[in-house]
Amino acid sequence: MQPVKIKENIYWVGAIDWDVRNFHGYLTQRGTTYNAYLIIDEKITLIDTVKPQFYDEMIKRISRLINPEKIDYIISNHVEMDHSGGLPKLMEIAKNVTIITSHKGQQGLKNHYKKDWNFKTVKSGDTLNLGKRNINFVLTPMVHWPDNMVCYLAEDKILFSNDAFGQHLASSERFDDKLPIQIVLEEAKKYYGNIVLPYGNQVAKALETVSGLDIETIAPSHGAIWRLHISEIIECYKKWSTNKTEDVAVIVYDTMWNSTEKIAYAVQSAFEAKGITTKMRNLKTNHISDVITDVVTAKYICVGSSTLNNNMLPTVAAFLTYLKGLAPKNRVGLAFGSYGWGGQSIDQVEDVLESCGFDLLDQIKIQFIPDNNTLQEITNKLKGEIP
Ligand code: FEO
Repeated sequence: MQPVKIKENIYWVGAIDWDVRNFHGYLTQRGTTYNAYLIIDEKITLIDTVKPQFYDEMIKRISRLINPEKIDYIISNHVEMDHSGGLPKLMEIAKNVTIITSHKGQQGLKNHYKKDWNFKTVKSGDTLNLGKRNINFVLTPMVHWPDNMVCYLAEDKILFSNDAFGQHLASSERFDDKLPIQIVLEEAKKYYGNIVLPYGNQVAKALETVSGLDIETIAPSHGAIWRLHISEIIECYKKWSTNKTEDVAVIVYDTMWNSTEKIAYAVQSAFEAKGITTKMRNLKTNHISDVITDVVTAKYICVGSSTLNNNMLPTVAAFLTYLKGLAPKNRVGLAFGSYGWGGQSIDQVEDVLESCGFDLLDQIKIQFIPDNNTLQEITNKLKGEIP
């Protein structure tokens, strides 16, 4: 329960959630952290708190540095309870705190906790003097809630970015240069796909706003603190937020008697023949939140389902509902599947892909079991269609 020094008089005082494996539907196989940061200046300032059940862990870390009663400001960058959940208990002991937040943040905190705390609202461009340091605020609405903001400590060149640039990754290491970077980047991509993907335009705008800042450290609210790979993660966010894709086909399916699976592999052969990387994602063995990591950069989204009771399979319906909500853009879609008599699933899948705004390849709909000739025909025809 030690605080971790980031720069002189600036500390990580958050909590490590080694056990969480499901974050409202997002599979967090590597756990997560809730990052809170303490700045010790003439005004003692805490940036964000932690999930309610991790309050004790946070307060122990803070107490090793200062008496928590002496906190002057709490900057609430985001209302969601993994960052504001420690506030109610903390406000009981830190009686003189002013909560610094956006207008929407104030509304959200009041709606969550029904308390008439001492608030000061800020807007983009506002500065708060802490003594030797100044902290600047940039509102980043819908990255990923209306209340979101980030703040920048000019003297120490630290961007406190809240959910942006975060990763669900529990570790006793706090910095990107102390962790395998491929894992950190993969978790950052998964985080982007599952949390931030619908808000690409807002992310692009926020990136533009912070692009003029001299940043030495990005301190997000989950996972590793970026101090070595800053340009890489910013480049990733630029790419992801503008829906720049790669020549990759994600082939997502579920299958009853393996006929739809056979079609999935015939589809794969067509993409392979065109030199396009493929990722086979059977929904019986892959979680939808992991498939979304692939979707972040894949140009082709191919979705297959058998027909069951006049419908697509429930696993496929769940994936498509999730996909549509996350709203990736500029993709090419393909619906495919085997059926016995009704065959409704393929049209249903195609309807959703169309409603996502994807360009569509011709759907593939095969009755019962495709033989080798049929599979070869599928591959040959699709090969000719893939742009
Ligand atoms: Fe990590 Fe939107 O909360």
